[in-house]
Amino acid sequence: MSYKNIILDKSNEIARITIHRPNKLNALNIETIQELHHAFDIADRDKGIKVVILTGSGEKAFVAGADISEFADFTAEEGKELSANGQKLVFDFVENLGTPVIAAMNGFALGGGLELAMACHFRVASDNAKMGLPEVSLGVIPGYGGTQRLPQLIGKGRAMELIMTARMIDANDALKFGLINHVTTQDNLLPFCEKLAVQIARNSPVAIAAAIKSINANFKNGVNGFDVEVEEFGHSFATDDFKEGTSAFLEKRKANFPGK
Ligand code: COA
Repeated sequence: MSYKNIILDKSNEIARITIHRPNKLNALNIETIQELHHAFDIADRDKGIKVVILTGSGEKAFVAGADISEFADFTAEEGKELSANGQKLVFDFVENLGTPVIAAMNGFALGGGLELAMACHFRVASDNAKMGLPEVSLGVIPGYGGTQRLPQLIGKGRAMELIMTARMIDANDALKFGLINHVTTQDNLLPFCEKLAVQIARNSPVAIAAAIKSINANFKNGVNGFDVEVEEFGHSFATDDFKEGTSAFLEKRKANFPGK
């Protein structure tokens, strides 16, 4: 499939998905949501891809939000559908992907843009990045999971304040809050994320997928994360990756995981 709003590249077991609507600061329209779903699905199914890095085109924005021009005249029913479809196709989909996804936040990450970064498994931002959930300034609330994931990441009180004030924070405050894991210079953002991706790619993709599932289980209603961990831990012993990982250790060589 050829994409209009995103670019999907692949090198050395790492896929890079770049949201590419620089004239609109990479705002997420419905077509971009559909293309993102497709690209993440392709990357996840590809046995040769161990990590995905998600970033935005240009020097100004990761993603400046959902495309406001698209939903400005929506009805309540259409608004609900926008939120539910987006969550299913991209936000929940990315969070639950077995392949690790790193958000490389290269500028504004606002509204749906910050929600997208929060759906990724972890986040790295460049020092020019600004983050916020400004939806209440438009008369709506975050609809792509922001009211749930922001408190999970930074705590309820801080999330309440950020959402109510609609203000932006810079990368250093985001680091202090635990919203992002690292701050880099603009030039070093992608090389830094690629270094992390290489470290991740050395490990068992099957075990990593099981770890993602177990960690996410802690945040799912009605699911006991410890039970999921017990199950996933047990399953690990029946995998070829486990046989290879333990044999390689005992034989004092580098593991070559058969993988996903
Ligand atoms: N939806 C649709 N278009 C958007 C957009 C969004 N979320 N964010 C930016 N754009 C468009 C602008 O309309 C403008 O398009 P135009 O040149 O055709 O008029 C273009 O991107 C550049 O943005 P501009 O506002 O001129 O850049 P700026 O540097 O002055 O301001 C921001 C940058 C991020 C502060 C500002 O664009 C902004 O506030 N965007 C909306 C953020 C938001 O509320 N997101 C949550 C949506 S739920």
